[in-house]
Amino acid sequence: MRKGLTNYGDAEFSLFLRKAFIKGAGYSDDALERPIVGITNTGSGFNPCHGNAPQLIEAVKRGVMLAGGLPVDFPTISIHESFAHPNSMFLRNLMSMDTEEMIRALPIDAVVLIGGCDKTVPAQLMGAASAGVPAIQLVSGSMLTGSHRGVRVGACTDCRRFWGMYRGDEIDAQEIAEVNDQLVASVGTCSVMGTASTMACVTEALGMMLPGGATPPAVTADRIRIAERTGTQAVAMIQAGMTPDRILTKKAFENALMVLLAIGGSTNGIVHLAAIAGRCGIRIDMDEVDALGRNIPVLVDLKPSGTHYMEDLHRAGGLAPVLRELRPFLHLDALTVTGRTLGEELDAVAAFPQDVVRPLDNPIYPQGGIAFLRGNLAPDGAIIKQSAASAELMEHEGRVVVFDGLEDLAQRIDAPDLDVNADDILVLKNIGPKGAPGMPEAGYIPIPRKLARAGVKDMVRISDGRMSGTAGGTIILHVTPEAAVGGPLALIESGDRLRLSVRERALELLVSDEELARRRDALSLPAPREGDGRGYRKLFLDTVTQADNGCDFDFLRSLNEHGSIPQQR
Ligand code: FES
Ligand code: MG
Repeated sequence: MRKGLTNYGDAEFSLFLRKAFIKGAGYSDDALERPIVGITNTGSGFNPCHGNAPQLIEAVKRGVMLAGGLPVDFPTISIHESFAHPNSMFLRNLMSMDTEEMIRALPIDAVVLIGGCDKTVPAQLMGAASAGVPAIQLVSGSMLTGSHRGVRVGACTDCRRFWGMYRGDEIDAQEIAEVNDQLVASVGTCSVMGTASTMACVTEALGMMLPGGATPPAVTADRIRIAERTGTQAVAMIQAGMTPDRILTKKAFENALMVLLAIGGSTNGIVHLAAIAGRCGIRIDMDEVDALGRNIPVLVDLKPSGTHYMEDLHRAGGLAPVLRELRPFLHLDALTVTGRTLGEELDAVAAFPQDVVRPLDNPIYPQGGIAFLRGNLAPDGAIIKQSAASAELMEHEGRVVVFDGLEDLAQRIDAPDLDVNADDILVLKNIGPKGAPGMPEAGYIPIPRKLARAGVKDMVRISDGRMSGTAGGTIILHVTPEAAVGGPLALIESGDRLRLSVRERALELLVSDEELARRRDALSLPAPREGDGRGYRKLFLDTVTQADNGCDFDFLRSLNEHGSIPQQR
């Protein structure tokens, strides 16, 4: 048992006391003298994405014991996308602090992080990177797909597709109720390339997870075996002194970003990677990522960019075929949790024919999944998931229809007298990191009902919020700086004209500088809301950074002597 934790001024006595208390659980000295592996328990009755946590913990424990260590699980908070008011992003940094401080607090020599649902894996990696103890990530794995009247369905790209059909009167109330039973067919994380799947793949690419650990579905024997091996590896990492700083290097983040682009990953993944990197003193340059994206096409044929589901990617070999295609671009010398390099791990996996991961010369989308835009509307950037957008809207100029916030949107979007046409651009303000707060996944602005009924499926939509990784459409997100801190988005008005050119990476508000200056003089920022002045919410509002810095709290990032995150490492 690691010495020097709870300190009563007498190190030997402190150890004596710790042993006395844990022996209350029936441990022997033989057990306690072994390397101790902590296991985060993020199971919760409100988190079906982690519904296999008991089985995973049991398997991790077996693996730890097979390697001669002592496994001990401990709880941290659990965040599920649908049960996290006001939104899960609001709680991500709290979970990262919980994870970091529990790793520091407990007498553990290594930690197995068991996460899965969208915000949990980034929260755990942020916390573990800051805590500095050997750490290895395990994910709960994807849910199975269901079947609706013979059609395969899965959360949550199909959730949105069927809801859109219901809004457009294409299916009735009985059918939408039937669909509701089928979308989430088992425990586990969303079955498409949403944020959970994205973060699983990206974490494997970072080297923080066992090779092959990203894709086994939650309820399979493969998933349990990975859990067992994760426990065994955690003990080896103690012996090797394999701390996160040895793995989480600039090269590792570049590998992760390339994989994110090639899998058609969630836009949220960019924010999370920026946050994890920030904990390591590394700044992710969005222009560099955009440059990478011009060379790296989308290879993985998964919803929402393609047609398959996560269990299909697993059968196709998991992340290995993606890494194999990306070989010419990747830093193959980056170290992984196994102590071997990404390249060495890749060499050890046999290739076989499959049809889920495309070869480089026949991609499902010719460029990376995500493009970075700039312009007078977004001086610090905005992003678009171009692989899930409509080709005909990627070069578009139109009149804007502005909603001031979520309440305004809810009140007016379906109004029969809303002044809106199919070629207008919908703009939603005040859903950024501070605005909502927590930058909710409300950037997927619904098509106004009267247009949906007329058959309109997509429009250009712009906000300072995020979007679920399972959603698609011509949707511009993360407009930075956000409206609530006085970003140019705050100045836009209905009737203005706006130009989007994904080809030129441009997002331009076609309003004169003089007019914008006049509006800025008249601008008043949103008034504080009830509850803004106390507790975690106050901490959040006072210290959350903008999307380009990962929406981490400013005081949690690893800063250099100049108080900023260095560019290179
Ligand atoms: Fe948990 Fe989608 S809701 S992964
Ligand atoms: Mg999601």
